Amino acid sequence: MNILITGGAGFIGSHLAERLLNDGFHVTIIDDLSTGSATNIDSLKANKNFDYYFESIFNESLLRELIDKTDVIFHLAAAVGVFLIVESPVRTIETNVFGTELVLKYASLKKKRVIITSTSEVYGKANKIPFNEEDDLVLGPTTMGRWSYACSKALDEYLSIAYWREKKVPITIMRMFNTVGPRQSPSYGMVIPRFVIASLENKPIPVFGDGLQSRCFTYVDDAVDALILSAFNDISVGKVYNIGNPEEVSIRNLALLINEKVGSHSRIEFIPYSKAYGEGFEDMQRRVPDIKKISHDLGFQPKHSLESIIDRTVEYFRKMKNSTIVTK
Ligand SMILES: NC(=O)c1ccc[n+]([C@@H]2O[C@H](COP(=O)([O-])OP(=O)(O)OC[C@H]3O[C@@H](n4cnc5c(N)ncnc54)[C@H](O)[C@@H]3O)[C@@H](O)[C@H]2O)c1
Repeated sequence: MNILITGGAGFIGSHLAERLLNDGFHVTIIDDLSTGSATNIDSLKANKNFDYYFESIFNESLLRELIDKTDVIFHLAAAVGVFLIVESPVRTIETNVFGTELVLKYASLKKKRVIITSTSEVYGKANKIPFNEEDDLVLGPTTMGRWSYACSKALDEYLSIAYWREKKVPITIMRMFNTVGPRQSPSYGMVIPRFVIASLENKPIPVFGDGLQSRCFTYVDDAVDALILSAFNDISVGKVYNIGNPEEVSIRNLALLINEKVGSHSRIEFIPYSKAYGEGFEDMQRRVPDIKKISHDLGFQPKHSLESIIDRTVEYFRKMKNSTIVTK
């Protein structure tokens, strides 16, 4: 069976590619390396079942040709990361909306199976915890660039559902909560890599706001399990699922836990949101997934606790410490 992963040289895409190759699939990736990296797929290049194209999904003729040869498409290519979203809102909206539109358009020609990766950001400022797939999405004003990511991904969801209802393209939408693990870049605002690197270097750990905002973290292997379960299961067609681990931690306590695991004495430096992201930046206080639907339909349960996620991430960045890690 042939699998296409858009954004396959990215953090999650490269783990997904590795797992699918190990499971015996033929995997092709397309990635423009805008936030991904060629080194993420170094270990895969020798595999005879692996093809890669360092190209944009906006290369329509190539995208069409690849989709044509594919049985299942995992669409991960997107503009991601809070820094990128705040700095480049045009790129964020265009990549996410038009990129997904192209994937769906070409998938619809031969009704290919498509897994769309969305995000917990679509819940926006909703404060009913935990977040359930049927909840209202509460997005901020259009004048606040930060919401353009959530909005672009929400539009991807509407469009995907529309392709399912109107054109019978078998899609599934996976709303991913914060996913972490080896190869995640610290460069675009991802919190755990930034904290781990600061702690390993005994530098101040930059906590935005008062640090009382909380998040739930999913280990990348668990996220990959969920993506694969959804793709090879008819029950998930036309549906939206949260992928996450409901174990919640405040960002301040996360910094303390990372310091403890690293054995570092880095101090916590509280940075106002306005300094980190500009005036008027809004954050969500809590973001907890309700995973009843995915566990009922697909039998998904996250296997990795927060402690084990941090242990593994610390180990990875310790090994990387002598190579060049670019922090913003
Ligand atoms: N990591 C998380 O915590 C998280 C949370 C929610 C949702 N997601 C979603 O999961 C998906 C993968 O995210 P990730 O964390 O691996 O980020 P990532 O930045 O590592 O992966 C995205 C990949 O898409 C590629 N890309 C961007 N524009 C492209 C284009 N025009 N053509 C081809 N490739 C392009 C990038 O180079 C990158 O390799 C994204 O859709 C993201 O929205 C991730």
